[in-house]
Amino acid sequence: MSPRKIIIDTDPGQDDAVAILLALASPNDIEVLGITAVAGNVPLELTSKNARIVCELAGRPDIPVYAGCDRPLRHSLVTAEHVHGKTGLDGPDLPDPNMPLQTAHGVDYIIDTLRAHPPKTITLCPLGPLTNIATAFERAPDIIDLVQEIVLMGGAYFEVGNITPAAEFNIYVDPEAAEAVFKSGIPLVVLPLDVTHKALVTSARNKAFRALGTPVGLAVAQMTDFFERFDKEKYGSLGAPLHDPCVTAYLIAPDLFTGRHVNVEIETNSALTRGMTVADWWRVTDRSPNALFIGDLDADGFFTLLTERLGRL
Ligand code: RIB
Ligand code: CA
Repeated sequence: MSPRKIIIDTDPGQDDAVAILLALASPNDIEVLGITAVAGNVPLELTSKNARIVCELAGRPDIPVYAGCDRPLRHSLVTAEHVHGKTGLDGPDLPDPNMPLQTAHGVDYIIDTLRAHPPKTITLCPLGPLTNIATAFERAPDIIDLVQEIVLMGGAYFEVGNITPAAEFNIYVDPEAAEAVFKSGIPLVVLPLDVTHKALVTSARNKAFRALGTPVGLAVAQMTDFFERFDKEKYGSLGAPLHDPCVTAYLIAPDLFTGRHVNVEIETNSALTRGMTVADWWRVTDRSPNALFIGDLDADGFFTLLTERLGRL
């Protein structure tokens, strides 16, 4: 089977970085057409720099990286340096990128690329706030029918919020953008905190990254060593939750994951519950299902796949 063509939309972020590395380590499963950076964990200037740092770490300076939107549709930008550090990639000491940032805007790249390929042959993989995706749909509604699938990290139901009591960060930062994506009618696979909080980098798993004995293995171990602090303090987690790599792993090995096709709507009105993903998990409404909402994974299988693939870089 030919590799799945994807565009990664991202706000690196150590976990975004591992997701990108896993994708680039899996050319038989995934063809990364391009990467669009969005403001999220850290401002756009840093996310667009970090995406290039990761491509060069993977030995792939040929991957085109574009800067997209520098703020959400309606709200002012909320960032997460408290989780990811000042640079967004704290932990390893990685060199500044040599590869250039593409001159086109990330939103134009998404629009042009979808229009240039046969319908339903490109999957969008958002790993951050959905601002770029929603802006592309707003600017060029014709592309909505061209998207094969959207596989995104965001939201939470049983796990509730990580940035507020009600909301997960990616959705909270730009709830109006999330609403546009969840109402688009495009086939949607959602990897929420309910599953990503089960993909924890325990010390044994971190040791396995280091044991690869490669610059990538060491960098991933140092990244997860850094960003585990937040979740260890807040949740008492056994290690860093690998949120965004769940998206890439789902594309490669969907059988590692289980979920339900349910209705998910986004709270955009209430300040108290802004960005909440209201998943009708128990189907208590007649709202039609619009997302495969993932609730569980085979964590050992996930880390075996991830570690083996990282070892290829
Ligand atoms: O809430 C976790 C999500 O927010 C992850 O994608 C992380 O990188 C941040 O963007
Ligand atoms: Ca992210």
